[in-house]
This record gives sequence, structure tokens and C-alpha cells, in this order.
Amino acid sequence: MQLAVSTWQEVEDYLRGSAGIVVPIGSVEQHGPNGLIGTDHLCAEVVARGVGDATGAAVAPTLAYGMSQHHLGFAGSVTLRPSTLMLVVRDVVQSLAVHGFRRFFFINGHGGNVATVTAAFDELYAAQSLGDGGVPVQCRMAFWSGPRCKAISEELYPGVEGRHATASEVSLAQFYQSRHIKHAQMSPKVAPSFPQFFDAADYRARYADGRIGSDPSLSSPEHGKRLYEAAVLDMTDAYKAFLNY
Ligand code: NI
Repeated sequence: MQLAVSTWQEVEDYLRGSAGIVVPIGSVEQHGPNGLIGTDHLCAEVVARGVGDATGAAVAPTLAYGMSQHHLGFAGSVTLRPSTLMLVVRDVVQSLAVHGFRRFFFINGHGGNVATVTAAFDELYAAQSLGDGGVPVQCRMAFWSGPRCKAISEELYPGVEGRHATASEVSLAQFYQSRHIKHAQMSPKVAPSFPQFFDAADYRARYADGRIGSDPSLSSPEHGKRLYEAAVLDMTDAYKAFLNY
């Protein structure tokens, strides 16, 4: 059940049977020569909606913007500061908690969100533990590509999945947004990979076209369909396990 296309009465009915909700979260940032700016939030969104269809879970509107400061050297990228994103997560969770939602399952499409969103969860728990107010909630975050997806990635893109603008996420976005498939030469074919990067200027200097360690010229919407079906199964398992935890 997508919140965005439900009425408040439908949400009230839902809350009589479940306190769980799926929250897709991603980023607005460059994804190399053939990856869409919205790749991370589009991937999280399509998988979250699939989990909603499979389980009947409520699915919140996508939190499109994430912590992407290192991508600001590339046009179209937008970041929330970590402190801003933590407040966004807190206010979204606490707003929904007012109505009775208690279990928040974030499906994430962007590795750069993990530290910040995890810290936001800890702020919520700290407020509960210290008696500073707020409704007690429980939150979990999972990256959309679970074990089934990893097996497909290893089969399709051995050694060249990479860490940013990955072949898998580009394929999944091509499946979801099939009218917006881009074609580009990759040079070098497999992007470089370093252990660490710092700010936007440093990132741009290390990764000339924005990719890290990937070859998304291998991506296709057919691969994306396989990854989508696997991801929905992976995340459905993870959501059900969270509700039963
Ligand atoms: Ni990404």
C-alpha cells in the first residue's frame, strides 16, 4: 500500500492490522556516463514498491535526497548535510509514529547514507532512553541488494560490479525507467578504485567520470528485471524477519 496514493482512512485501516512501514531512501547524485542521477532512489523505490505489493506493507514516499557531498563535483548532484538528513529521518519517523507506525524498515540505495541514517536511528533511541520525548520506535535499514542479488551480480559482472555506478544498480534503474536508457563509451572500461575519498574536489580528481571500480556498459534492462525479482524476494524476507524480531 503506497502512502502517496492512499487516503487517511485507508492508512487508519492499515494501522489496525500492522505497525510496519517500508521507507525507500536514496540519493540525487551522478552515476557515471550511463547512470541516471536518480539511480539510488529509483532502485530503492522500485524494490520498496515490490515489497509493498508482495506483502501488503505500507510504503512511504521515497526520501530521494541523501548524503552525497562527495558527488558535488558533478552537475545535477545534490546533498543534504549529515545533520540535515538526520533531522529529516527523525521528523519523518516521528510524524508517522504519531499515527501508530512503530517498525520502520528503510530500503536504502546509497552507501553514503549508512553512517548518517544509523546515527539518526541512534538519536531516536537516545531520546527514548533519556526520556526526552518522542514515540518509541524501532528502525532497521537494509541495502536493496541482498544475497540473491549478490549471486546474480557475481554471475553477470564478475570482478567489475564496482562500488559506485555499479553494473547492478544501472541495470535495475534501466528496468524501472526503461524509457531513459543511456548509452556511453566507458574509458577506461573498468573504473579505478581507491580505498578512500574525501570531499567533492578529491572525489572528482580520483574518479574522472564518476564511477568507482565498475563497468556499467554491461548493464541491461533484462539484467535489471532479474535483479528486481531477486531484490523483492531478498527484501521481503528481511522485512518479515524485522516484523517478527
Ligand atoms: Ni548508487
